[in-house]
Amino acid sequence: MELRDITKEKDLKGKRVLLRLDLNVPLEDGKIANDFRIRKNGRVISYLHKVGARTVIIAHLGKDGRESLAPVASYLQKKYLHLEFLPTAVVGAEVIQKTKEMNDGDIIMLDNLRKNPGEKENDPGFAEDLSLLGDIYVNEAFAVSHREHASIVRLPHCLPSYVGPVFLEELEGLGKALAPTPPFYVVLGGAKISTKLPIVEKFIGVADNIFLYGALAHDVLYAKGYEIGDSLVDKGIDVSHIVDNKKIILPIDVVVTNKKEGRSIKPIEEVSKGDIIFDEGPESILKIKNTLKEAATVLWNGPLGNFEAGFTQATEDAAMIISDLDAFSVVGGGDTIAAIQKLGLNEKFSFISTGGGAMLEYLAKGTLAGIDALEGR
Ligand code: 3PG
Repeated sequence: MELRDITKEKDLKGKRVLLRLDLNVPLEDGKIANDFRIRKNGRVISYLHKVGARTVIIAHLGKDGRESLAPVASYLQKKYLHLEFLPTAVVGAEVIQKTKEMNDGDIIMLDNLRKNPGEKENDPGFAEDLSLLGDIYVNEAFAVSHREHASIVRLPHCLPSYVGPVFLEELEGLGKALAPTPPFYVVLGGAKISTKLPIVEKFIGVADNIFLYGALAHDVLYAKGYEIGDSLVDKGIDVSHIVDNKKIILPIDVVVTNKKEGRSIKPIEEVSKGDIIFDEGPESILKIKNTLKEAATVLWNGPLGNFEAGFTQATEDAAMIISDLDAFSVVGGGDTIAAIQKLGLNEKFSFISTGGGAMLEYLAKGTLAGIDALEGR
């Protein structure tokens, strides 16, 4: 079955729309640190409001359900004054009744779905309960559609199901990276080689080059026998099948810190015991600049340095370089987007994915659990 676009559906007036969003945004001291995902969701909320649907928003925040979506609801209330937040993820008689008493255009939002263990346990009973809140279901949560959770993979079996406009844009934007116009380059950063290895394996035959920067590089450098000091490395992952591939480009120089010498830039061969690699050096960045000059398609995911520790220089340099290219550029990942936003470069990228893990999984497999559920596979 084809994915159905909710904005193409007529007669939504008066219908209760159970709208799954991804509102999983970073919070700092209870305040929203990055509103990219929330703003992306504005389109479908406004649309449903305009056509007189009765919208019931469901979403998650954080890994374990400890956090409340209340700050996100307050943020949304600045735009949707009448949005009513119900601080519960339990579907009791009262909540069901509330949805039945809604007026056309009203919006209700439940609290963090992960507060209910049924969400992550993919409990059919929880999905059945949620389905009582809507006449139809809309998945506008591409970024969590790789998870086999009740609101993602079970709800499509309970209600007539649709996707939102941003979900469809994800498939189109990421589709351009799956069928890239050459020359095609992939730039990968961040940690956790295990999550990026499927992308390397998928694109190694297609891409002209794959840059493995950030902490990902440490794994490959280590496997090649380089000294990486005390840098972050995932020794349990086998990378032997990619280490000698000529298409893989590793950093030439890096920013290291060392207890005795402090911070310095070193050629990769000069990294010594006690050094910790935190960022890429200028030569490594120049390599990106020179290589990507002729690119027609660029795919970038993950920061090039340790973003959390404040090493943002190489990531920001890469953002400037890639945004300046005359190429179709596809980017994603929380820290990568944070750098792009900080520099005000959003509009200069061809497509910015809302997905982190979902983007990587979609690129590797060409589908997600949530898409299969919507398609009835
Ligand atoms: C994300 O932030 O990538 C999505 O919201 C999924 O979150 P999760 O990794 O906690 O399932």
